[in-house]
Amino acid sequence: MLSKRSGPHGVSGGVVPGRVHRMHPMFHRSLLSIAMVVSSVLLWGTNPRAFAQKQTSNAQSKSEAGIVARGKYIVEGVAMCGQCHTPRDSNGGSDRSRWLQGAPLPWSPDKPESDWATNAPRIGSTPLPASDDDMVKLLTTGIWKNGSRLRPPMPQFRMSRGDAEAVVAYLKSFNSQP
Ligand code: HEC
Repeated sequence: MLSKRSGPHGVSGGVVPGRVHRMHPMFHRSLLSIAMVVSSVLLWGTNPRAFAQKQTSNAQSKSEAGIVARGKYIVEGVAMCGQCHTPRDSNGGSDRSRWLQGAPLPWSPDKPESDWATNAPRIGSTPLPASDDDMVKLLTTGIWKNGSRLRPPMPQFRMSRGDAEAVVAYLKSFNSQP
């Protein structure tokens, strides 16, 4: 009898405060597991992405360096822009300290040509004499930003777009001292 009465009483007496106490740890535990899930999602989600971004920017700067090197090769080794656009030093060679900074032309045509330019302007280091697009247009079509052709002896280049973009990248890559 006593045990029967005290049993339910004891249980019901303990249940109410017990239930309140038991709710808290459960609530905390579920918060904790949500936090763990969220943080593991963040860890898995952001780390590979950050890694991939790093990889991409490395690849970008590598390919950018490759493009500039290609432009340098075209300017110095193929199109010879420096022959006209760089002043001469006392030995008659290109003055590398004023590389592509503009120069009077060291020669003129045998037969006087009224259209002949006597000066090759500065084309190297920023700001370039025209926007990137206008520079590319000149080198791919021969048409300058004013809509007409430049005077001789500026060659009428017909470069591929890739080559022209590489030349422009190179021209922008140095500050008067290549
Ligand atoms: C044989 C000489 C010669 C070579 C080589 C040469 N240029 Fe020129 N360039 C000139 C002359 C001369 C002018 C001026 C034309 C004019 O005034 O109409 C000129 C003008 C320019 C202009 C216009 C600049 C401005 O502010 O008006 C650009 C840009 C240019 N050249 C880029 C180049 C590039 C890039 C190369 C090499 C890929 C190159 N040139 C090779 C002679 C040359």
